[in-house]
Amino acid sequence: MSELKKIYNPNREFAANARIKNMCEYKDLVEHATEDYEGFWDTYASSKIEWMKPYSKVLDESKAPFSSWFIGGKLNVSTQCIDRHLDKRKNKAAIIFEGDRGDKQIITYLELSYNVNRFANLLKNKFNVKKGDRVIIYMPMIPEAAYAMLACARIGAIHSIVFGGFSAEALRDRIQDAEAKVVITADGAFRKTKPYMLKPAVDQALQAETTVEKVLVVERNGEDVEWVAGRDYSYNELIVDESSKCEAEMMDSEDPLFLLYTSGSTGKPKGVQHNSAGYILWAQMTMEWVFDVKENDTYWCTADVGWITGHTYIVYGPLAMGATTVMFEGVPTYPDAGRAWRMVEEYKINQFYTAPTAIRVLHKMGENEPAKYDLSSLKVLGTVGEPIDPPAWKWYYEDVGNSKCSIVDTYWQTETGGHVVSPLPGATPIKAGCATLPLPGIMAEILDPKTGEKVGAGESGYMCITKPWPAMIRGVWGDPDRYVKSYFGDVKKDGKAVYFTGDGANYDEDGYITITGRTDDVINVSGHRMGTAEVEAAIKSHAKVAEVAVVGRPHELKGEGIFAYIVMKGEDNLAEEIELIKEINTNIKQEIGNIAICDDMVFVPGLPKTRSGKIMRRILRSIAKGEEITQDISTLEDPSVVSAIEKCIKG
Ligand code: WT7
Repeated sequence: MSELKKIYNPNREFAANARIKNMCEYKDLVEHATEDYEGFWDTYASSKIEWMKPYSKVLDESKAPFSSWFIGGKLNVSTQCIDRHLDKRKNKAAIIFEGDRGDKQIITYLELSYNVNRFANLLKNKFNVKKGDRVIIYMPMIPEAAYAMLACARIGAIHSIVFGGFSAEALRDRIQDAEAKVVITADGAFRKTKPYMLKPAVDQALQAETTVEKVLVVERNGEDVEWVAGRDYSYNELIVDESSKCEAEMMDSEDPLFLLYTSGSTGKPKGVQHNSAGYILWAQMTMEWVFDVKENDTYWCTADVGWITGHTYIVYGPLAMGATTVMFEGVPTYPDAGRAWRMVEEYKINQFYTAPTAIRVLHKMGENEPAKYDLSSLKVLGTVGEPIDPPAWKWYYEDVGNSKCSIVDTYWQTETGGHVVSPLPGATPIKAGCATLPLPGIMAEILDPKTGEKVGAGESGYMCITKPWPAMIRGVWGDPDRYVKSYFGDVKKDGKAVYFTGDGANYDEDGYITITGRTDDVINVSGHRMGTAEVEAAIKSHAKVAEVAVVGRPHELKGEGIFAYIVMKGEDNLAEEIELIKEINTNIKQEIGNIAICDDMVFVPGLPKTRSGKIMRRILRSIAKGEEITQDISTLEDPSVVSAIEKCIKG
């Protein structure tokens, strides 16, 4: 049971003006959703979305677990994010951009409209991109990345952003799986002192057989890049000829908006599909409820558009509600550990949203930095991606927030589209490290995987969502079976398969939810999901590796680090091992990217396997944590392998 203190109302004035002001209001909303689920969603969908044609039915569950929302409705996500604000907010800042070198741009809603329309025309007229075509976006954090997303939405193309830190091979896999027609990229970007490149990875990826016809290259760092005539085109050259008026395609509520690849416990990353209406509705609603952004506020989320946080909470959510969203290139610790706080002071940021891993790094590198800046504009501090540890929480709350800001520990996933469990600032009393309560309309429950019953206080169970919700994943691209197996295979409630997140969790005495981490073979490295199977495949691609098993272990800054146990072919040889580590790391960089580099690699004589040949990862996890082995190892094919591994680690 948690002995953490509840903090009520860090800021009364804020609470008095919050959209959801207190727990009574929260409970009313929950009650509305419980008693009349469709009516609840109808209230918001009918008032928040600018429909081109109204829907005739709220929810269709007849093909469960494939559900559809707002049946027959027509809309366009880009008009929801741009056009409908032009009457009232055309000269309001939509995006404030700060580059790694300190370069700045303020893009108003009117300018955003021009840029997105011209981009949409370019894709349509010069590249023949049509509704339903897939477009890969492999970009740095520059405003053109947001224009590209919204331009796709405008013409009905399905974008799939690949994080710029992924390698050429990872990019190729995603291009092939999505059968993309166009890739939008940049020459490269700036990061700390040296430029880093993106276009060469695109060139390499496209050496394979793909469906890509054209590549659009935005100039960012001005470095020389190779050019394939007839395939590669300069955005900067083409865009000047395009008109700033492009009619928005009429999209069905359930037309796909984007794909985003994410790691699971097995196989290659899967293309999580999000559709138009439900996704944009929840993106906007959670912006309003969870960050409580007001008309004159400035909101900053430090994520990268390559991840779901960047999709929902840098681009779609803030723009759908007509907010000012800050976008930055680089890292919050460069040129120094005060960069983030200097930006908060300069732009008078009101809501700041980041990940525990960034908080730990900022804390470690600049414990006293926040005090050097005027952070009094801050009202809400958000965190996402992994459980936040109490020391990081305390520093965030006290030193950054001056004990006056609500901390919203937002729990969600690529698949949920938006927040599912989170405090509401101004209403929910907060506790360090605790995501608190499900948001109204989200039927999130911790269930016992065996019985499907809700667990009691202090007991652990599986974090599930028992009813479909508008922003939920609609499928795994090209693989409907995988969708059903991945999310609806593990837990049944009242005989019905329910959505299982893959996370373990528990309730405390207040009914608050604490997420304890993944129950599957997914590692959370700096808030990013890494499948052990993917890392293992990259390591196994080295000719000298016979067998490998990868597990997570606690890491001071990253949350979890990657720990690899490797069995080499042939004789053990120390001199060779050092070379091997380098070569294996090169393979990992090539196949996945720097984010998958192992924190530990140990060469062991064998792996702990059951008689049926299954690797017992639990044992490997315990060893990696430095724990005493308490598990029963008698069922292992060769129990002596455990002490042999322990010896290798000590050695
Ligand atoms: C996984 C989802 C959601 C955007 C960023 C990551 C973990 C996420 C929290 C939180 C504890 C969290 C879960 C989840 N996670 N937020 N507030 N507390 N754990 O998106 O890559 O889809 O990863 O991140 O394990 O399943 P993602």
